[in-house]
Amino acid sequence: MKLDIKGVQNSYPVFIERGLMDTLSDFFDTPSTYILLTDDGIPSIYVEKVKAFLNPKKVITVKQGEVSKSMATYESVLLSMQRLNIQRSAHLVALGGGVVSDLGGFVAATYKRGIPFTIIPTTLLSMVDASVGGKVAINTQYAKNSVGTFYTPKQVIIDPNTLDTLDKRQMHSGMSEVIKSALIGDASLFEALKKPFNHLDIVSIIRQSLEVKQAFVEGDLKDQGKRQTLNYGHTIGHAVEKESDFALLHGECVAIGMKLMAKNKPFYNDLTAILKRYDLDLSIPKTMNVSNLTDHIKEDKKVFNNVYHIIDVEKVGNGFIKVTEEEEIKRIIKGDC
Ligand SMILES: NC(=O)c1ccc[n+]([C@@H]2O[C@H](COP(=O)([O-])OP(=O)(O)OC[C@H]3O[C@@H](n4cnc5c(N)ncnc54)[C@H](O)[C@@H]3O)[C@@H](O)[C@H]2O)c1
Repeated sequence: MKLDIKGVQNSYPVFIERGLMDTLSDFFDTPSTYILLTDDGIPSIYVEKVKAFLNPKKVITVKQGEVSKSMATYESVLLSMQRLNIQRSAHLVALGGGVVSDLGGFVAATYKRGIPFTIIPTTLLSMVDASVGGKVAINTQYAKNSVGTFYTPKQVIIDPNTLDTLDKRQMHSGMSEVIKSALIGDASLFEALKKPFNHLDIVSIIRQSLEVKQAFVEGDLKDQGKRQTLNYGHTIGHAVEKESDFALLHGECVAIGMKLMAKNKPFYNDLTAILKRYDLDLSIPKTMNVSNLTDHIKEDKKVFNNVYHIIDVEKVGNGFIKVTEEEEIKRIIKGDC
């Protein structure tokens, strides 16, 4: 199955099907110089498959984890491409989770002012979120994703079979973004999520989540308004993530944020039952306090001139942007601290 997604530079196809890793030559029919970017946590079986199909000129393997979305790694990837005199016609293939696609996309966007790139996402979070939407970035010591741009891939190739090797905690972190997509944009997906995981069709789950993302992204390609709805649970989630020094996974923090936002809403019990299924029925760790968390929230891109924009849901499937103030955010957090 295929979705065509509008991007800042071009529209691009997102292919979703089990087994695509075994038919990669269908997607790379033009001979090119390929650079394969991956990380050292990606099982070698996938790396070998891509190598066998593409015969890349260079395989660049960065360290797994957020640490690789850094200036230092970005520079080392660029330099290793320059050492080989890689031309503008070369094609970068990013194989891995959101770290590899964010870093790889930013390298592709900036190397010789832009070279084509393909994303082959291998985590659920990257399949339902990071690989689509065109945001590419690295972090600095001061802020996450603070150096980046919008750069659209040529294609995204999703083979859900690669999830077989993903550990449970990472898988659950990805499910948190699926649950978020359901809450803000797809009531039928929320209904489906009430069933146990082994009754769900993962291809449909990925497609439905991406369709929600597509609707918000295409209406606001450069993230100036409506697209921020995708940040449901993220305002508080990002603050918890930062305060935990990234010990908690992104999806776990988003789950905390969603649960707090959903308190007293008619769907709260259904939501917590779904979160429980994925070990995501979590609370703000007791070691954290309201004032540190609100300090982090002040750095959120949705806070301008002391006016807070937070994403809310009253009815499942209808996320919206709400203007609020610091006291309200504190009140929501205190519900849990
Ligand atoms: N650009 C966007 O729109 C966007 C959206 C959401 C998140 N992100 C970014 O994505 C990043 C997080 O991505 P992530 O959750 O995919 O984490 P990740 O890329 O760090 O991958 C998680 C871990 O899983 C391992 N792994 C990946 N695929 C595997 C597989 N199939 N089997 C076994 N292990 C595998 C990796 O080596 C890594 O250790 C963050 O940096 C976040 O900022 C970007």
